[in-house]
Amino acid sequence: MKVLSVASECAPLIKTGGLADVAGALPGALARQGVEMRTLLPGYPAVHDALEGGTQVMTDSNLFGGPAQVLHGTAAGLDVYVLDAAHLFYREGGPYAAPDGFDWWDNADRFAALDWVAAQLCTYGAAGWKPDVLQAHDWQGGFAAVYLQRLGGAQSVGSVLTIHNIAFTGSVGADRLGWLRLPAEGYNPGGFEFFGRISALKAGIAYSDKVNTVSPTYGQELMTPEFGMGFDGALRARGADFSGILNGIDTDVWDPATDPAIETFKSPRTKTRARAALVAEFGLLPDQGPICVVVSRLTEQKGLDLLLDALPELLDRGGQLVLLGSGDPALEQGYLAAAAANPGRVAVRIGYDEPMSHRIIAGGDAILVPSRFEPCGLTQLYGLRYGTIPVVATTGGLVDTVIPLTVATRLAGAATGIQFRSGNSDALRGAIAQLCTVYSEPEVWTRMQQAAMKHPVGWDVSAAAYAALYAEAAKTP
Ligand code: ADP
Ligand code: GLC
Repeated sequence: MKVLSVASECAPLIKTGGLADVAGALPGALARQGVEMRTLLPGYPAVHDALEGGTQVMTDSNLFGGPAQVLHGTAAGLDVYVLDAAHLFYREGGPYAAPDGFDWWDNADRFAALDWVAAQLCTYGAAGWKPDVLQAHDWQGGFAAVYLQRLGGAQSVGSVLTIHNIAFTGSVGADRLGWLRLPAEGYNPGGFEFFGRISALKAGIAYSDKVNTVSPTYGQELMTPEFGMGFDGALRARGADFSGILNGIDTDVWDPATDPAIETFKSPRTKTRARAALVAEFGLLPDQGPICVVVSRLTEQKGLDLLLDALPELLDRGGQLVLLGSGDPALEQGYLAAAAANPGRVAVRIGYDEPMSHRIIAGGDAILVPSRFEPCGLTQLYGLRYGTIPVVATTGGLVDTVIPLTVATRLAGAATGIQFRSGNSDALRGAIAQLCTVYSEPEVWTRMQQAAMKHPVGWDVSAAAYAALYAEAAKTP
């Protein structure tokens, strides 16, 4: 089975969030299932810098406004096709936004171009390699299935769209239809029309053979008006062709026994050194309560305004907070103010820092994920692996990955974390109170840590589920 994954970000090359981790981990996880996955990436500067042995496999003299070529090679150990189109991708700034923080003005063109090339690679093959299935991610891959149909490739190549986050719709004015090489007959509510505009995500939902999202619970939620953000009807219409497959994490990159970024440890007992290193690094005062940590984008989705409200509950009980993140300026200011008001008890770093994220997650006692919605969430999985107890909202993948502490799970020794009703700061206060209580009961606490560290968080089960999905989507047995 050969699969072309078309991804707008891919760790460790370029990353804004969990999508990059998933795109970067899937090829390795799928190789163990007998699936050969190659990845088509935009030629961002960071991708070109990492590309080794790029051989030209395709050229186009006018790809949405400029010349382009596709290079095949390796980058960070991945087998990649790089879309070298300087007019679209060779820019300083992020994958989706300019250095000023605003989205690139031509995002629709940029990812339409990527999707067009993906469909061409699938339809005609490149240098003797022709995929059985096209795997697209989020709105950035949404047009690929439409183009695959338009080019005639859909007869022989299956298509799968994975939704990592429904909040990004990839919308553009309907007047762009011709320029974007979209078929006029697709502009209707059953196609890619979305509130009077064109949506790339809607296109992917309507045209892909299979659609999935990154946890079973988020899959259920997406079919409701409350979470579907206008796509719930389109998803319900897909019936059994829409499913949820839980993300895993790269257990080699996130391994407390070998992680080069930390004071390594193998059990809850030896975790104390990583904790001590964190206390020293952030100048925390000796205290009785749990060190709670957060590593997150600071956005509405993540519910971190609720945590600001509930912070006094944690501090009153002798707990501490270490937060690493960036995003919404009001939240950044709010957390910086909390740190200034509580020196030695609240430590905040605004920015993006991969090694620091490992140190924080390894050294913390508990990791807080108070999201309003969360398709899967990866940091609670890192927490489990490092014996850092997840305290999570009951939404999306957080429900599917954490076994909440109840009377029953406590007796059975099965609990791995604490859950609370999402979107509610009183419920979060209650969860923090529960956390502080259980933290003061060493036997229960250690048992939870042990259960957490044993919980399977790797890709094996889910990679098999993706392989099965590809087999269903493929046109040739
Ligand atoms: P999302 O994709 O919605 O941001 P996930 O939990 O799936 O949420 O993935 C977020 C990823 O980004 C994780 O790998 C997390 O460790 C990482 N991350 C988020 N913020 C930071 C930061 N400030 N520094 C380092 N890593 C971060
Ligand atoms: C998205 C979601 C996150 C998920 C990640 C990877 O960014 O917000 O919950 O873990 O994609 O699928």
